[in-house]
Amino acid sequence: MFTLVTDWDKLLPLLSIAIGIPNDSGLQKIVAIERAKGTQYWAAQAGDEIIGLVGLWMDQQTHQLDAILPAEIMDVAVHPNQQGQGLGKQLVKFALQKAWDAGYRTVWLSTDGNDRKNLSFYIGLGFRIAATIPDWFGPGTVRAILRIDKPTQHE
Ligand SMILES: CC(C)(COP(=O)(O)OP(=O)(O)OC[C@H]1O[C@@H](n2cnc3c(N)ncnc32)[C@H](O)[C@@H]1OP(=O)(O)O)[C@@H](O)C(=O)NCCC(=O)NCCS
Repeated sequence: MFTLVTDWDKLLPLLSIAIGIPNDSGLQKIVAIERAKGTQYWAAQAGDEIIGLVGLWMDQQTHQLDAILPAEIMDVAVHPNQQGQGLGKQLVKFALQKAWDAGYRTVWLSTDGNDRKNLSFYIGLGFRIAATIPDWFGPGTVRAILRIDKPTQHE
């Protein structure tokens, strides 16, 4: 349903929305870091255009699964014209399924802890706030660390 992004330049407009920074050299550095880390980005496309994006990092080096670092959802964004129609939720669920299928039992992500809309989006998907770190992005900001555990078969 979603396609693995291989042309990293195509990510930039939606990554800019996901991270909330301009599409400039700073964003390109972030892309280079994620590329080196082995983060994979999955896209929803309308024709040639990417309208939704989710990034997922899983440890490709040690394959230690949850033991060292759980899988991490990196960036989620939906084009402003397409928001509110369920696409963001589908993208996150898709990434979670990838992690569960790979054998992970925990996925985490970090987001702006002052952004109540984002928090309610993720909490609605089953994430819970595991920790908050004040002043992480600058004075007055909060980094919220969210986690979700693989549902048992009964859930
Ligand atoms: C956050 C984002 C990815 C959500 O994608 P979306 O396609 O608009 O969300 P969906 O339509 O799938 O909504 C899923 C649920 O979250 C809720 N939700 C989504 N966006 C919301 C918002 N801005 N405020 C409150 N609730 C929101 C919806 O009500 C919906 O709940 P429901 O299923 O109970 O009705 C999208 O708004 C976006 O790209 N925002 C800008 C980038 C961003 O902040 N990314 C996250 C960075 S960590």
